[in-house]
Amino acid sequence: MRRKIAAGNWKMNGTSAALTELEALRALLPPDAPEVVICPPAPLLFRATETAGPIAIGAQDCHMQDAGAFTGDISAAMVADTGASYVIVGHSERRSAHEESNANVRDKAEAAWAAGLTAILCIGEALEDREADNTLDIIGGQLSGSLPDGVSATNTVIAYEPIWAIGTGKVPTLDQIIEVHDFIRARLITRFGQDIGDAIPLLYGGSVKPENAATIFRADNVDGALVGGASLKAADFAPIITALAKS
Ligand code: PGA
Repeated sequence: MRRKIAAGNWKMNGTSAALTELEALRALLPPDAPEVVICPPAPLLFRATETAGPIAIGAQDCHMQDAGAFTGDISAAMVADTGASYVIVGHSERRSAHEESNANVRDKAEAAWAAGLTAILCIGEALEDREADNTLDIIGGQLSGSLPDGVSATNTVIAYEPIWAIGTGKVPTLDQIIEVHDFIRARLITRFGQDIGDAIPLLYGGSVKPENAATIFRADNVDGALVGGASLKAADFAPIITALAKS
């Protein structure tokens, strides 16, 4: 049985007042809850780890270097120092707005591991790739370019997030999700062997809501979700967690 994970990415939303949502989420967790991760903005990490209880805390990015003259950046060791245990790397908003390459994302994943963090490594195709029928080529290229050797089932979670589905309310069909997740699983098994390849959790992300979560979780190789907008409010995220627990 693979780990099931419901991860929430708050993006650049929330000041300290938002920590009440973490407390509310704790109270709404089902007894058989899967692993739950919340990735708040970096200034909230310390306080979030203090209020999270059984909820794991993650950062939304880290730098690939340990330390140095990188104004505004935070290292993986700094993230770990807050008590966080996860870090998202290679989110499409970082890849596009901050021009992060596959090589950058690979270096960040390695930095995360070196600090003892689990990397939630994001990949996903743009709309024009999907329309040109290039989705699997793009996904295959991102996997080989941004996933370092040395992956394990505990140090890495992969999130498939079609860029056109993020924040848009558009969700791929279940068949489209299954096709990509099965492809990722096969690639992982080919590259890392049956045991590791089969054990790495694969999350779907992009407009996951309480209304569509149960359908998405029907796919065999969907082990959870990376949720943006619907993770901001405990009342929205809790039913997604419950749907995952029941899947
Ligand atoms: P969304 O974002 O759930 O708001 O579409 C997902 C993500 O970017 O991780």
